[in-house]
Amino acid sequence: MTGLFISFEGVDGVGKTTQVERLRAYLESCGHTVVTTREPGGTALGRAIRRVLLYGMDAGNGVVDEHDGDAADIAPRAEALLFAADRAQHVAEVIRPALGRGEAVITDRYLDSSLAYQAGGRELTAAEIRELSMWGTGGLLPDRTYLLDMDPALSHARLTHAEDRMESAGNAFQRRTREAFLALAAAEPERFRVIDAAQSIDAVWASIRADIDALLRGDVHGGTRDETRSGESA
Ligand code: TYD
Repeated sequence: MTGLFISFEGVDGVGKTTQVERLRAYLESCGHTVVTTREPGGTALGRAIRRVLLYGMDAGNGVVDEHDGDAADIAPRAEALLFAADRAQHVAEVIRPALGRGEAVITDRYLDSSLAYQAGGRELTAAEIRELSMWGTGGLLPDRTYLLDMDPALSHARLTHAEDRMESAGNAFQRRTREAFLALAAAEPERFRVIDAAQSIDAVWASIRADIDALLRGDVHGGTRDETRSGESA
């Protein structure tokens, strides 16, 4: 499988969406066919999972049933499995086919979000979460992951929409999540680039562009896809 697989990570409100869009426009201007996507919710199944995870079991049907659970009732293991299920479908339906056609895929969140949010912040171990996602995706890791890093107290002040369940989980949770992301980046320096997201949009983009140019030229290495697990879809 060829193509280029890029993920963006970070706590809520750091500006991932803006940078995903800049990178898409840039890669297209360089002649690449680009797919931009996100987790959770990159597929129809994923959008159904996303609604449940972020807004609860009665989300989307407009009817609040007293028997319906609140999103807060989702047990940590069930939550981890739902994010992993979203990712498995996303890889099978969107990401692997696009990479197989030689395209560039840019995803707003991927496996590291599960490692940071479900393992870093809640009660499961990183090893368990990683194994779950690696199984679900057939071991597919990005070539490059941009971690947009900033103090969650500042990034949260930027959010313009009503908070979802993760966003309202509290400052301590957000701080742990940020630390978990930084630890992941330190453990895989070839795949990650950590970018100070408190800088201006243009300065953040300049860092990303310099790195992607170097990556495309082959001057720097990216991460290694674990193709040994990719099974029938390799
Ligand atoms: P996101 O789409 O970034 O939120 P928004 O629409 O507000 O920009 O992600 C939704 C939330 O889901 C976010 O708070 C992070 C969380 N999340 C996890 O907890 N685990 C995961 O594996 C993923 C992909 C996201």
